[in-house]
Amino acid sequence: SSLGKPPATRDHAFSSFAFAFDIDGVLYRGGQAIPGAREMLRSIRRKDIRYVFLTNGGGTHETAKADSLAKRLGLSPDEEDVVRDRVILSHTPMRGWADEVKQQTVLVTGSHPETARRIANEYGFSRAVTPADLIHANDKLYPFDNLKETLHAEFRPLPDGKSAAGAPADPYSRDLLAADALKIDKILVWNDPRDWSLDIQVIHDLLVSRGGHLGTVSDRNGDRSLPNNGWQQDGQPELWISNLDLVWKTEFPVNRFGTGAFVAALQGVWAAVTNGGAELQYQALGKPSRFTYEYAHARLVRDHAVGSTSTSGSESRGKDTTAPPIKRVYMIGDNPESDIRGANEFRPEDGTEWVSVLVRTGVWRQTAAEKGPRYKPAVIVDDVVDAIVWALRNEG
Ligand code: G3P
Ligand code: MG
Repeated sequence: SSLGKPPATRDHAFSSFAFAFDIDGVLYRGGQAIPGAREMLRSIRRKDIRYVFLTNGGGTHETAKADSLAKRLGLSPDEEDVVRDRVILSHTPMRGWADEVKQQTVLVTGSHPETARRIANEYGFSRAVTPADLIHANDKLYPFDNLKETLHAEFRPLPDGKSAAGAPADPYSRDLLAADALKIDKILVWNDPRDWSLDIQVIHDLLVSRGGHLGTVSDRNGDRSLPNNGWQQDGQPELWISNLDLVWKTEFPVNRFGTGAFVAALQGVWAAVTNGGAELQYQALGKPSRFTYEYAHARLVRDHAVGSTSTSGSESRGKDTTAPPIKRVYMIGDNPESDIRGANEFRPEDGTEWVSVLVRTGVWRQTAAEKGPRYKPAVIVDDVVDAIVWALRNEG
């Protein structure tokens, strides 16, 4: 019989373990939900087990992702607490970046430029520029059909009336730049760009530039007396990639390229441009990076403490200390390189153990050539249902 929800006291029955669910290849493939996923989520929600959705997907808002997750799983509108405030996207940790960084001029590129900008603005990046803005500001920037009617139709003027054509005629000259020359401080690749050609061109241009001014070329490039043979040594913007997944899982039988494939293409072009003389310097977020796991861990510990199942992003969360400490977090994923590797390598300071569980519904398939995954999980199971059953048994 139901006695209702127990009070949040020290001796309640809430669990000391939690789940981190990967999304693509674990909860659904494209539009197709993994059978039983919805029921398992309902059940762990009812049991007040803490969980988050930790995906390398991005290019959308966390709320929009939660809505589409609920829809694809077939949850009803009154079950929104099953997904609400639990989605961590590849770029979500950037919400926590310092304000002075958010005031910099950033080039944001992702699936849809205008959506990416809106999310960046919502995160607090007030000066977010998209590749669409650049081609509209300077029609010489890209010599080919650049999808101005479709993908890049929406644009905004560059911040503070800056111009993308403020560089001197000689791109190598150290002459003063026009006062209105746009300077990009950071490049944020938020997920799989749709127009690789334009994005590789623009990212290249910024990485070879002097100080992040489009249309200039640093005379330090190729200087062997400098680190990295002078490449990316002249105040060029930092390049941030929000995840490095080479592939991900949809309904199509063959794995689909992810953001990591775009990075591989960029690295290939970079190797050609630098004559093999320089490694592409970049920073990556997303699984398997420690930063992302730390973010997820902190969210599990703070946001989903017992009794704080509602609210969004407020300071009032995280004050409830009545939940038992989390001893184990089960990371259920389909990608050994990101989900499993990240969980295996993550050792939170509070001593919590992250346990990796690999499912067979996603990118990883056992083949004759590959006896086992490169990064070994604690267990390999058929799907997310078996993963939860295994974890619950493991907890006794
Ligand atoms: O673009 C999404 C993909 O890279 C992986 O998503 O949920 O499997 O981490 P997920
Ligand atoms: Mg996945």
